[in-house]
Amino acid sequence: MGAISINPKEVETAKLHGLLLSAVAPRPIAFASTVDTNGNVNLSPFSFFNVFSANPPILIFSPARRVRDNTTKHTLENAIATKEVTINIVNFPIVEQMSLSSTEYDKGVNEFSKSGLTQVPSVKVKPPRVKESPVSFECIVENVMPLGEEGGAGNLIIAKVVMVHVDDTYTNKDGKLDTTKLDLVARMGESWYCRASKDALFEIPKPIFTKGIGVDKLPKHILESKILTGNNLGRLGNSEKLPTQKEISTFLEDNKEVQTMINNKDIPALHSKVKDFLKEENVSKAILVAFSFIK
Ligand SMILES: Cc1cc2nc3c(=O)[nH]c(=O)nc-3n(C[C@H](O)[C@H](O)[C@H](O)COP(=O)(O)O)c2cc1C
Repeated sequence: MGAISINPKEVETAKLHGLLLSAVAPRPIAFASTVDTNGNVNLSPFSFFNVFSANPPILIFSPARRVRDNTTKHTLENAIATKEVTINIVNFPIVEQMSLSSTEYDKGVNEFSKSGLTQVPSVKVKPPRVKESPVSFECIVENVMPLGEEGGAGNLIIAKVVMVHVDDTYTNKDGKLDTTKLDLVARMGESWYCRASKDALFEIPKPIFTKGIGVDKLPKHILESKILTGNNLGRLGNSEKLPTQKEISTFLEDNKEVQTMINNKDIPALHSKVKDFLKEENVSKAILVAFSFIK
């Protein structure tokens, strides 16, 4: 195992492009609909995309100059000319049609027709939205920022959301978007995608309202464990407070098995016990076991 260090100035743009796209992933997909000055509709996907502000609500995506021949994309030309875009979110049921729409059709060709997706008029802007998309954002283009003039240069389209449409198939009873229903897809490197559903989804309690003790406060034998992983240490370090001696004693009275491990100085068994409690999402017991033995 060793690090390969690369100076961007010393590699071909195509190679660097491939490396950046494989490493900076998964990326969400902006399925962007725009119109030209004659009202012709265009629909294309862009994974150089994210949300950057909630107040004002700002989405940014980047149609790049082609690495191949330094030409620009119709979406960029339309966004500059008409200053409006509708950004549709892509989920698994529309991933193939989204991919088809990325074909480089001639200017003026409507990729809604090519992909077989349904065009629904927007409320505040001219570019229509994709009916099959779980969420669509009607946006005004606030600014377009070119990042260079050569092939591969991005162009940031800074878009302010002026209307949002949510398909209630994807909401829970509180009206909030339900991540387990959305089935979102994202772009990886080369021709890979990933699907945010089932085992790919997991939760981590947010360390925002509480302050974790930190991995540095864990006992030395836990830090040096061959059984516990970095993720295990991170979850232990997210505990709000160190257990008191009284809490540890009470725990040991009820958990004779752990007391025996301590008596035998059986550190691997203690670490396996910590890991078992973490697997059961019982962090408070895991932390008690971790602190029950101090070398
Ligand atoms: C999932 C996906 C993500 C893409 N992301 C980008 C991107 O972020 N920037 C870009 O310039 N092209 C991206 N492309 C390629 C464009 O969609 C493609 O060049 C398209 O033909 C542009 O269409 P237009 O000329 O009608 O705007 C992506 C393609 C796919 C399938």
